[in-house]
Amino acid sequence: MERDVVLKADKVCKIYGANRAEAERMMAAGHTKEEVQKKTGATVALWDVSFEVNRGEVFAIIGLSGSGKSTIIRCFNQLLRPTSGHVYVEGRAVDSMSKKELLELRRHKVSMVFQNFGLFTHRSVLENVAYGLEVRGLSKTECAERAMEFIDMVGLKGWEQSPIHSLSGGMKQRVGIARALTSDPEVLLMDEPFSALDPLVRSEMQFELLKIQRKLGKTILFITHDMNEAFKLGDRVAIMRDAKIVQIDTPEGMTTNPADDYVRQFIGSADKTQVFTAQQVMIGHVCLVQEKDNPSNALRQMQREGFSSAYVVDNRMRLLGVVTAESAVEARQKSRPLAEYIERDVISVPPDKLAGDIIPLTVGARFPVAVVEEDGTLLGIITKAALLSCVS
Ligand SMILES: Nc1ncnc2c1ncn2[C@@H]1O[C@H](COP(=O)(O)OP(=O)(O)OP(=O)(O)O)[C@@H](O)[C@H]1O
Ligand SMILES: [Mg+2]
Repeated sequence: MERDVVLKADKVCKIYGANRAEAERMMAAGHTKEEVQKKTGATVALWDVSFEVNRGEVFAIIGLSGSGKSTIIRCFNQLLRPTSGHVYVEGRAVDSMSKKELLELRRHKVSMVFQNFGLFTHRSVLENVAYGLEVRGLSKTECAERAMEFIDMVGLKGWEQSPIHSLSGGMKQRVGIARALTSDPEVLLMDEPFSALDPLVRSEMQFELLKIQRKLGKTILFITHDMNEAFKLGDRVAIMRDAKIVQIDTPEGMTTNPADDYVRQFIGSADKTQVFTAQQVMIGHVCLVQEKDNPSNALRQMQREGFSSAYVVDNRMRLLGVVTAESAVEARQKSRPLAEYIERDVISVPPDKLAGDIIPLTVGARFPVAVVEEDGTLLGIITKAALLSCVS
C-alpha cells in the first residue's frame, strides 16, 4: 500500500532566547540542552525533530515534562513557528501559508484538543460544540443538528443543555473532542487531553477515542506522558528526550528493540500485557487433527508430538474443539468416530486481542486459549507460560 503522509516534521528546531546561533553551534557539536542553557542562556525546545504521520494513523509522542512535546504539536497549526526546519500538512509547508490558508487549515484541516479543555464554561454543551460551526456561517439549525451528531457520538446525549461548569472532567473532555470533530478535520492534534482525568475515566476516554478513530479514520497526533496511554493508543510511538526524538517505532517494535536505556526505562513503566496481542504471544505449533481422522491416527499424532490433547479442525482449518488422549482411547475402544468426543467449549480469541485481556480468560481453563480468525480459522494457541513470559 502506498503511504499517504498527512503530517510531516522535517528537521524542526525551536530555540528560545537571544543567543540562538551559539546554541545551534553547541547542539550541532553534540552538547546537551542543559549545557547549552548554562552556557548561552538559550532554551532548546526542539532539536532536529523529524517524523511522518500517515493518514488514519494514531501517532503518539511521549516524553517527560519539558522535553518538547507541546512545542512540536503547536507547530502544526502554527501556534508556534520553528526556528529552523519545516512542518507540512498534506505536503504543504505550514510556514509558507498565507493568512487565509492558515485560517482554512485551522478551521477545516486540523483541530486541537487541549489538556485543560479550553471550553466556554458559562455556556452549554451544545453551544460549545456548535461554536466552531457558527463562525463558519452555517444556519442555527444546521449548526445544532451537526453539533448533536457529535454530542451523541461522544456519549453526551441528554446533556446538551447543561452548562460546562456542571460537568465532570471526563465529560468536559468529551465536549472538547466533540467540538474538535464538528469541523470534520483530517487531523486531530491532542496535547495531553486526558492527563487531568482520573484513571478510570481516562481509560474510558481512551476507549472512546479509539472507537471514534476507527469509525471516522482521523489522523491523530497524540501527546502524553503516560507510556501505557502511548502504547494503547499509538499505532506508532515517538519518545522525546531533551528536545530530541530518541526512537520512533510501533509499541511492539519498541518493546522488543528499545533504542537505549532511557527508552528501556520508559518501557519498564508500561504494562506489556497492554502491548502484545494474541497473535504475538501465540504458539503457531499446535497438535492438530481433523474431525474425520480416526481415533488411532489422532492418538498417534498426539504421541508423536508429545501432547495429551489435540485441536480438532475441519477441512478448512476451522476450529471445532479439542480432543484429549483419554477420549481418543475411549473412541478407539468403542469404535466410535472421533467427532463424537470433541470438547467444544474451548476458549477462543481474535488475533488482535490484548494479552492483558486474555489472562483472566485462562483462569480455570482446561486447554490453552485458541487464536482464531473471524471465520473460525485456527491460527495458534496461547499457553499460560507464553502469556506469563510476555508479562515479565
Ligand atoms: N515561551 C517560551 N520561552 C522559553 N522557553 C520555553 C517557552 N515555551 C517552552 N519553553 C521551553 O521549551 C521546552 C519544551 O517545552 P514544552 O512545553 O514543549 O514541553 P512539554 O514536553 O510539552 O512538557 P509538559 O509535559 O510539561 O507539557 C521546555 O524546556 C520549556 O521550558
Ligand atoms: Mg506540554
